[in-house]
Amino acid sequence: MGILEVTDVQRTFGGIVALDSVSLSITQGETTVIIGANGAGKTTLFNCITGYHTPDEGSVVFDGADITQTPDYKVARMGIRRTFQEVDVFDELTVAENISLGVFRSDPRELMEALDLMEINDKLGEELTLFERKRVALALAADGKLLLLDEVFSGLDPAEKPAMLDHLNILAEEKTLMLIEHDIETAFDLADNVIVLSQGRVLGQGTPEEVKNDEEVQEQYLGEMAL
Ligand SMILES: Nc1ncnc2c1ncn2[C@@H]1O[C@H](COP(=O)(O)OP(=O)(O)OP(=O)(O)O)[C@@H](O)[C@H]1O
Ligand SMILES: [Mg+2]
Repeated sequence: MGILEVTDVQRTFGGIVALDSVSLSITQGETTVIIGANGAGKTTLFNCITGYHTPDEGSVVFDGADITQTPDYKVARMGIRRTFQEVDVFDELTVAENISLGVFRSDPRELMEALDLMEINDKLGEELTLFERKRVALALAADGKLLLLDEVFSGLDPAEKPAMLDHLNILAEEKTLMLIEHDIETAFDLADNVIVLSQGRVLGQGTPEEVKNDEEVQEQYLGEMAL
């Protein structure tokens, strides 16, 4: 059994089916990258795993415990942590204060060192560049055991991407990562496993090679991307 088992999860918003019978299994220690077009349901999947939304149907099991109905703050304390697509840091607090407020399980100093935050520990949230804010958000997520990272590369300068990649690779040595990523090359580079979502359904999953060669994925998703 995986560290995370999502079984037949369904989630609708009014008439929109955001997730349609989604099942997946995440193996401890592996990095899974979720790809899919805008509106495919990627963030909703993270929301259903982390307790921000409750699935209409189906189950989410983490470390053997059913967390389908568990509220977000409890899920976070159990060890599933996340970053948000819109980076969320307290503007009026310093980097060090942001970290000490949000970290329960790890040594805050170790996390700050790992993410190159020591030299900006006195800077206020509102003074940070996007890349700095993203590193604070990543340090907060890194407090968990299973880290759900929503588009950590988006908005970064090309020059900042290699440093972000290094940080993710360091985290991946110790943690189980799930990433949402739009850039296919980055996704296939980072992933042990890839999951393709399309209109709320799992269109394909497997190793990067398997997914690249999957006919349905080719036709419906990768075809136009000329891999
Ligand atoms: N809180 C909500 N209320 C109403 N509709 C929602 C809500 N959250 C998501 N949706 C809808 O569910 C569908 C899936 O959205 P979701 O944000 O999960 O997609 P996504 O794959 O993360 O897209 P993107 O790549 O643009 O971030 C979309 O049609 C979206 O409009
Ligand atoms: Mg999203």
